[in-house]
Amino acid sequence: MKETLARNIKIYRKERGLTQEGLAQILGLSFQAVSKWENAQTMPDISLLPQLSRTLEVSTDKLLGYASQYTPITIYEEAYQTQDYYWGTAPNQECYQVLQRMPPVKPLKLLDIGCGEGKDAVFFARNGYEVTAFDVSDAGIEKTKRLADHSGVHVNVFKADILDYRLDRHFDIVFSSGVLHYIKPELRQEIFDNYKRFTNQKGMHILNVFVNKPFIAPPPEKEPNAYKWYSGELLAYYQDWLIQESSEIVFDCSSSGIPHKHAMTTISAQKITSLEC
Ligand SMILES: C[S@@+](CC[C@H](N)C(=O)[O-])C[C@H]1O[C@@H](n2cnc3c(N)ncnc32)[C@H](O)[C@@H]1O
Repeated sequence: MKETLARNIKIYRKERGLTQEGLAQILGLSFQAVSKWENAQTMPDISLLPQLSRTLEVSTDKLLGYASQYTPITIYEEAYQTQDYYWGTAPNQECYQVLQRMPPVKPLKLLDIGCGEGKDAVFFARNGYEVTAFDVSDAGIEKTKRLADHSGVHVNVFKADILDYRLDRHFDIVFSSGVLHYIKPELRQEIFDNYKRFTNQKGMHILNVFVNKPFIAPPPEKEPNAYKWYSGELLAYYQDWLIQESSEIVFDCSSSGIPHKHAMTTISAQKITSLEC
């Protein structure tokens, strides 16, 4: 939270063309106070948030990293509002890779980005991982909580937008399936730098992304906030990590009721920063 707020104050201050001194003056503070916020040394007093958000012309939710400046709408919100589990309750195949590569023989913190209705997050929690998960869909969050309760496990699940949310604490495993195409291409470097930075040594990222292929027709669901990746793009973010596995598949899908195909890249990458493997 502190890091996200620090980053957002800096971004929006600059967007408004304000210096640290300028912002401090408006708020009746010293520029050192603003500098400490932006270095994540301190956080603004809660009573200052309304004036800060007015001055930076951004909602407090956005400042805190819990709402999008792009007002995303997920096409899944409505589907998630029914009793049925749109994606079922069985985990994705890639969840088993997590079990194989980093079995929870000691406490391991796992983040599921874009958890949907929670089938994977709950699977991980049932297998002994300490699971944090987020999604932009309110109905998805509720269903994740329900599924976790039903399975007698705890998942720390909350609403956040992938475009705005940044990690400010470390994880051992970052997992995401079917979600990373919601990251705008121009934000990918910064977001992946953040995910990598907040991954523990020897931790892993197990991810997949939809990729564009000229021989595959666009999917029937029209998603205004989706930006496919190009083949090989995901791999490029992990040049300095050990690539345990990377592959590209084409598979059939009928999620919208209309049969279609997707191409997808998957990757398992491990953070190794010392000379020892
Ligand atoms: C294809 S579903 C995958 C869900 C889940 N990972 C699974 O495999 O069951 C895509 C998910 O991304 C979520 N999503 C869409 N835009 C998002 C955003 N901007 N931030 C976070 N999650 C988002 C949707 O709500 C949806 O749950």
